[in-house]
Amino acid sequence: DPSNPSLLAATSAVFAAGILVAFPSAASLGVELKSFKCKDMRHGDYQCNAAMPLYQKLKAAGALPDGVSTPQQVASAIIDAIGADNPVMEDLKVNGPGFIMSRIKASYLLDGVNDILKNAAPTKPVLTAQSGNVVVDFSSPNIAKEMHVGHLRSTIIGESVCRILEYVGADVSRVNHVGDWGTQFGMLIQYLKEEYPDFTDDVPNITDLTAFYKNAKMRFDESPEFKKVSQLNVVKLQAGDEECRKIWQVLCDVSRKEFEKVYNRLDIKVTECGESFYNDKIAPVIGEFDKAGILTSEEGGAKCVWVDGYPQPLMLQKSDGGYGYDSTDMAAIKYRIDKLGATQCVYITDFTQGDHFQMVFKAARKIGWVEGDSHRLDHIGFGTVQGEDGKRFKTRSGDTVRLVDLLDEAVSRMEASLNERIAEGKAGITKDQVHETACAMGYGAVKYFDLRRNPTSNYIFSYDRMLDTKGNTAIYLLYAHARLESIISRAEADHGVNVDELIKGGQAIVLGHKSERNLALHLEIFADCIEETLKDLYPYHICDFVYNLSIAASDFVTQCKVLGTDEMQSRVLLCRATAITMRQCFQLLGIRHVMRI
Ligand code: ARG
Repeated sequence: DPSNPSLLAATSAVFAAGILVAFPSAASLGVELKSFKCKDMRHGDYQCNAAMPLYQKLKAAGALPDGVSTPQQVASAIIDAIGADNPVMEDLKVNGPGFIMSRIKASYLLDGVNDILKNAAPTKPVLTAQSGNVVVDFSSPNIAKEMHVGHLRSTIIGESVCRILEYVGADVSRVNHVGDWGTQFGMLIQYLKEEYPDFTDDVPNITDLTAFYKNAKMRFDESPEFKKVSQLNVVKLQAGDEECRKIWQVLCDVSRKEFEKVYNRLDIKVTECGESFYNDKIAPVIGEFDKAGILTSEEGGAKCVWVDGYPQPLMLQKSDGGYGYDSTDMAAIKYRIDKLGATQCVYITDFTQGDHFQMVFKAARKIGWVEGDSHRLDHIGFGTVQGEDGKRFKTRSGDTVRLVDLLDEAVSRMEASLNERIAEGKAGITKDQVHETACAMGYGAVKYFDLRRNPTSNYIFSYDRMLDTKGNTAIYLLYAHARLESIISRAEADHGVNVDELIKGGQAIVLGHKSERNLALHLEIFADCIEETLKDLYPYHICDFVYNLSIAASDFVTQCKVLGTDEMQSRVLLCRATAITMRQCFQLLGIRHVMRI
């Protein structure tokens, strides 16, 4: 894959080199020689703030050269050392107490745009190439329960995290750690035995299964006998009893089919490897902790592991001998590191499970599976989804919202709005394309509404805001992209432009208008954005980027006429480079793009 340093890396390198020429002793003074994107781009594109700390240190060391007695003079000396003939920056100036402001050279920006066109893809940042195996544990709903909106968050964020890691070359295992084990199966099995004696020929469907879960739970809470046989079923299931296994399998299959429907709609790829998979891997793990002398026996006989900083231990075995959530996750992390060869493990769940995962990570260190930076372990915890009343997201009748209903609603609202557009004669699509377009936009809107914020925040679910054609929504972005594509196709159809030929022929691009230059600069920022995203794996960085890019693009097309002008060929190419970059962002976010709306 073609790759280039990001603007952050390229400008940092030029600043660092200039600093070391002007002040060779800076290398040993521990000053960070980095650049930043300017917050307010009216003053510059990238800036370096090293002159002030450098001045302090030089002064303290008595090493200020003759004629340099202020931070501003340190900054000036750096600017002189950088000189005009570096390939990246121009227009270097000292600002305020010693900030060095710079502009990116037009020639550098043009190379960037040409690379996008030539490769039909934005250029990857050099620094981000990853080679390891990454296990991403996401979605992970629970069998026999309906997937809820929390699982939707995990699914949407997880898919995007996987795509981002794959984009930079990591080998990603997408793991669906479904809750297919544990004590709830005792009552489910018992209830199924009693209610559906001929369950093997007549498979209950999931809508039944949710009610079914509730009913089983009710009987479990009411009847002591039912409770007792249920608990026996758990033991039988875990010991491999044939009938229990069979019923368990039926329940898993029914749920799995429902989950698959959601995954197919949303273009989610994830491979099931549920809790049950680790059942026979838990005892050896407990043995290993025991042997290492870090397993404790608590009152009642539970086997635990204590880790620093937490008031309660991880429970590897309950007092009744059973295994729970902690046991499974310890066996799972060992399996991922040892058998899957993971160098990085990412878990995506609601934030309330944060402590659980930090304890699992600490225990993995305590036993020595992870040492120093041998592995990167991340938990991405997300906040709750609230209804418009600010309370937990529920239907009017107080039930949890079914995912399928939620997705249907987003699509049908989009269909209505597209049909209206067709009726008004504004649409670029025909009636028979409405459904497909509405799916791309509706699902895209649901995903983007979630991805565009820091996952730790709670958010209020609102169709109106999610499907708004203005503001930071997928709908706005998809329209902006389609607008660029429509300019390109009109140039081709009505003005005889052949974009592919222009690219092949090396048609020169001109950044004459400031909105053209600004657009080219934003295209180049893509690489910064990928670098930024890899630090915390939060996809909102990409949302911010693509939103800013589309604002720059819409500024450009409002201020610069494209069709029929002298600059048409150059401007059409800018449209194409922007559309390519937007599509890459959509891809990373798991959003389907459409060429016309
Ligand atoms: N099934 C769990 C839930 O619904 C999420 C599992 C997350 N993954 C894990 N390895 N614990 O909350």
